[in-house]
This record gives sequence, C-alpha cells and structure tokens, in this order.
Amino acid sequence: MPESISDRKRSHLELCESSPVEYAGKTTLLEEVDFVHDALPELAVDEVQVGTELLGKRLRAPLLITGMTGGTEEAAAVNRALARVAEAKGIAFGLGSQRAMHRSPALAHTFEVRAEAPTTLVLANIGIVQAAALSTAEVEALARAIGADALCVHLNPAQELIQAEGDRDFRGGVRTLTRLARELPFPVVVKETGCGLSRRVAERLVAAGIRTADVSGAGGTSWVKVEALRADEAARELGGVFADWGIPTAAALLACRGLGLDLIASGGIRSGLDVAKSVALGARLAGVALPVFRAYREGGVAAAGAFVDRLIVGLRTAMVLTGARDLEALGHAPLVLGGRLREWVLAGGGA
Ligand code: FNR
Repeated sequence: MPESISDRKRSHLELCESSPVEYAGKTTLLEEVDFVHDALPELAVDEVQVGTELLGKRLRAPLLITGMTGGTEEAAAVNRALARVAEAKGIAFGLGSQRAMHRSPALAHTFEVRAEAPTTLVLANIGIVQAAALSTAEVEALARAIGADALCVHLNPAQELIQAEGDRDFRGGVRTLTRLARELPFPVVVKETGCGLSRRVAERLVAAGIRTADVSGAGGTSWVKVEALRADEAARELGGVFADWGIPTAAALLACRGLGLDLIASGGIRSGLDVAKSVALGARLAGVALPVFRAYREGGVAAAGAFVDRLIVGLRTAMVLTGARDLEALGHAPLVLGGRLREWVLAGGGA
C-alpha cells in the first residue's frame, strides 16, 4: 500500500530528530570565509543594530526559522511552538509543505500559527511540482487559509529522485513561477531545500519575476540522506551515491548575489558567526531548520528560544569584532575567501 503523506511527515521528523541526516563529505564552505579582525572597534555591543526588514515586515534580527512541517498533530505542535519562538524573538517563520492540506483541507489547523504569532512574518509553503498542478486560486487559498504573508515555493528535485514515491517530471517550473509571481496578490519566495541555487537558476528566477530567494545550500540537512534512510535497497544505493550532491551555501550566496534578489541563506547555518558570514556574503537573512527542531525536541520552546538567542549573540559579537554598526555595514565587511570557495567563484557559481 502506498505510504500516505502523513506517514512520510512522521518519518521525516523522526529521522531528523536523531539520525545522521547532515552532509558528511561536504560543508557549507562558510569555514572558507574569514573576516578581518578589528582590534579597535569604536562600538559598544549595545549600539549594534541587528534589525532588518523583509517583505514589508520589520524583524528584530535577520533570522528565519525555515519551513519544516505540518499535516499531523505532532507537526501542528511543532509549528505552534516554533511560531511562538519566532514571535517572541521578532524573527520570521516558515511552515512546511501544505500539499497534505490541499488534499485534506481539514488539516489546515496543523499549519495555523497566527494565534501564536500575530505579528510574525509567516511564510506558506508548497512544492514546485504541486504548484504546477494547482490553479493560482487554489495556491492562493492555501496561503490565505492560514493568514500567511507570502508563499515559499520549494525546489527539491534531488530529494524527489531518491524518494520512492517522489516526483519524476520537473518540466514547467519556470512557467509556474512566472504565473504565480504575476497572479498572486502576495510575494513568492523560491527556496531550495539543501542543494543550493546556482547563478543560472537565480537568473531564471529573476526573469520569472521572483524577487526573494532562499539559496538553501549544501552543508546542513541533506534530504538525499533523509530519503536514503527511508528507502529500499536500490534507492538507498542511489542515495549513497548522491549523498553529497549540491552547491555549498557560501558558494550559492556568492553565485546569486548582484541580481537584485533579496537573498536568504539557509543550509547548515549553525552559529551566529555563520549568520554574520552569510550577511557579509550578501544575504538579507539567514535561515535555520534542523538545529531549531532538535533544540525544541530536547528542551521545548525554551531550548529553541535559547538557540535563537545564541545565534543573535554570535552575530552581535562578529559585528563588534569587524567594527560593523549595522547589517548594512556588515554587508560591506572585507572578507578573505579560501581556495575551495574561490574555485566555486571561478566556476561562476554554477553559471
Ligand atoms: C525541512 N525543509 C523543508 N523545506 C520546505 O521548503 N518544505 C518542507 O516541507 C520542509 N520540510 C523539512 C522538514 C524538516 C524536519 C527539516 C529539518 C527541513 C528544508 C529546510 O527548510 C531547509 O531548507 C533545509 O533543511 C536546510 O536547512 P538546515 O536544516 O541545514 O538548517
């Protein structure tokens, strides 16, 4: 019997909680980015400004809890808890794929977080292949039903190809994004899910009318690995071959900058220094998924909130040590890029 979406969501959460689902042979390459230390910063920690804006909403820090889940009661609890964290910290919050909700509208409550997060920037979520099969009105209804501010369309061809029941036909993606960007009355954010966006893809997004993109690069959670852990023998072998597939997050950021996109950096962001480096490489926000989920599973809302606080303290520390008063200044901080990252830059970041 084919597995239901709910069963799949349950097994994804279970595997992400405790199994080795992160890249092992590839990193974000953020370790190849060095700031130049400022031994004489004319700054007090308290005057460093980490506030920013995305999609018309103010954020108290340049952070997003990226979309993870929905569709089950367990997922509903995770969404509500992490949305509370986002509201308390003044950061953005993304929901997981609403595909299950389209099939069963009764599942809408598992994505509803407005009661917990009345002022938060909340992002709805759907996969590109599902979005292609829906009318614009149907897509709009999914986001409207939960009071989201914008819609994330996720791209995950690598995951789908390893997943036994995954999609196999990715044609028409650009056409779908062009239609949604033109017809939806709220912004569309395009995100990868851990394999990264190349410059060529970013250029096609811009041509499609997309203004915001999450590069979600390699180095953090690997969805190829998650699917390989769930798969039968043949798919497991294929998953093993492609376990380290993808564009490292730092390389994806450098590839996608300069095109007028508002960039979000996710995929392996694990510290405030990673957040600072992401901003210096051109990101407006950094996004985190796995570590927030794991912190929540270990210690509830308090632990997830403490993880977010640690990111902010680390970011502020990096800003003082580079003499950057605000995120705009951090975006212009001088950087030293190591050899492996420069190889990606020389290759045009996948152009
Ligand atoms: C995800 N991610 C994800 N992305 C998406 O667009 N829709 C989804 O439904 C999900 N589901 C999901 C579940 C869980 C448990 C995790 C950990 C992640 C991908 C996520 O938003 C992000 O792009 C990647 O996980 C990379 O970030 P991290 O995990 O390395 O911080």
